[in-house]
Amino acid sequence: MNHNSEKKKLPPVLIFIFGGSGDLNYRKLTPALYNLFLDNSMPEKFSIVGIARTEYDESAYKEHLLDGIINFSRRKDEDRKWTEFSKHLSYLKLDVSDEKAYGSIAELAKQKEQEFGEYPTLLFYMAVAPQLVPVIIKNLGLIQVCTDVKHSRIVVEKPFGHDLESAREMNLLLAGIFKEEQIYRIDHYLGKETVQNILALRFANALFEPIWNKNYIDHVQITSAETVGVEGRGGYYENSGALRDMVQNHILQLLCMIGMEAPISFDADEIRNKKVDVLNALRKIDKEEVYDYAVRGQYSEGWMQGEKVMGYRQEKDVKPDSTTETFAAIKFYIDNWRWEGVPFYVRTGKHMHEKTTALTIQFKPAPHYSFPAEAAETWRPNRLSISIQPEMDICLRFQAKKPGQHMVLTPVDMVFNYKDAYDGYEPEAYETLLYDVMEGDATLFMRADQVEAAWKVVMPVIEVWRERKPIDFPNYSPDSWGPEDAEALIARDGHNWITLPPKRKEK
Ligand code: BG6
Repeated sequence: MNHNSEKKKLPPVLIFIFGGSGDLNYRKLTPALYNLFLDNSMPEKFSIVGIARTEYDESAYKEHLLDGIINFSRRKDEDRKWTEFSKHLSYLKLDVSDEKAYGSIAELAKQKEQEFGEYPTLLFYMAVAPQLVPVIIKNLGLIQVCTDVKHSRIVVEKPFGHDLESAREMNLLLAGIFKEEQIYRIDHYLGKETVQNILALRFANALFEPIWNKNYIDHVQITSAETVGVEGRGGYYENSGALRDMVQNHILQLLCMIGMEAPISFDADEIRNKKVDVLNALRKIDKEEVYDYAVRGQYSEGWMQGEKVMGYRQEKDVKPDSTTETFAAIKFYIDNWRWEGVPFYVRTGKHMHEKTTALTIQFKPAPHYSFPAEAAETWRPNRLSISIQPEMDICLRFQAKKPGQHMVLTPVDMVFNYKDAYDGYEPEAYETLLYDVMEGDATLFMRADQVEAAWKVVMPVIEVWRERKPIDFPNYSPDSWGPEDAEALIARDGHNWITLPPKRKEK
């Protein structure tokens, strides 16, 4: 997160992408680095080395990455800058479990030092399958370059561990080789513009903070729904499920942004301290009560907008009797003064009716209705909706007098829309995050204690769901809003899920 409007010119950097031939690099990392290049935000001297086991000749590798740009970058090659950018790319075939092979990394660093005229910052990006990360960390530990705290950084993707215990082990392993300030644990949701804007909305305006508490807020909802299924990632997803894939990280981070206290500065640790306070205050669900707080689901075969889609159990690399959840809904409470008794309902799922990530702050009704009863028939309590994607807006609902001879009140929306307000500059989350790593700003990254605190919160649910197998899977159809139990979870408290974006839904 660049705190100044002026972008600094960054010192030379040498980026090693482990998993160079993989999907993340193809779809996200190279497109992000390329866009930074187009925006003049890459350092003057930089080099990007893709590392993988596949045999690739360099030009075929570059062709492959260009294909990724064409398919996934927000800007294609209109400016004909790819050839210039691709001069900074190279490919290194390396077996990550072969410790001797890592000498070539140290050698490349030396070579680049000569070429650049100064020693570059080394970034090691773990874009590999989670099970390969520990061996890479261990082997990086064998080469001296990682002890240089100022000049080497490691970026670790989610999932960070599989549960609390494995996350702790991973943190210990990392701590044996790197200092905490060298470790960048990515949660790409934190790089999204609309997510970063939550801090601006809350703490740069005097208007919201005084009412941002249990006295005025009835409940909060967070929905992160996707229309896609597991998209051929069955192998990964089988060991993950919606809880580990989305709730433990992205959704809890969103919840922290809504729940945190005001930071006293924009210092990385100050922001992270305030967020970890929320995680620590989240009520640990008693294992006996998990069914009152959490609902899981798995999609069946069915139809998505006129197209036949297979059930989760029929997906590639998925067991035919799989009990992995593709939907999760949970009710959380933050046990502190600000939020006492305010439920935070969260839900996420694959093959849902609509792609939307949105947060809703539902305010309590006005304390006294001074208007005649007929005037207030369609009156609704205030609501603030923050759409993260694909809509990017903030919408405040309040009452207005409907024009006419009588006093009739109706809810209306006041909307701030990113696309209308700013002309089109929308960096992707990975652009922001990669820039931050190069700059050495960890504000938007997860600290070891945050990751562990987030695991602690979801562990009771993970354990109960593992011990007691679901008997009703698959229990929701594609193109729906998940299983019926999820409706019951919130209806028991007298609420209903708000299927955002409301400005499109509720006229
Ligand atoms: C990833 C999950 O972290 O986030 C995916 O592993 C999910 O399963 C993705 O599809 C969603 O990201 P976004 O940015 O498209 O909301």
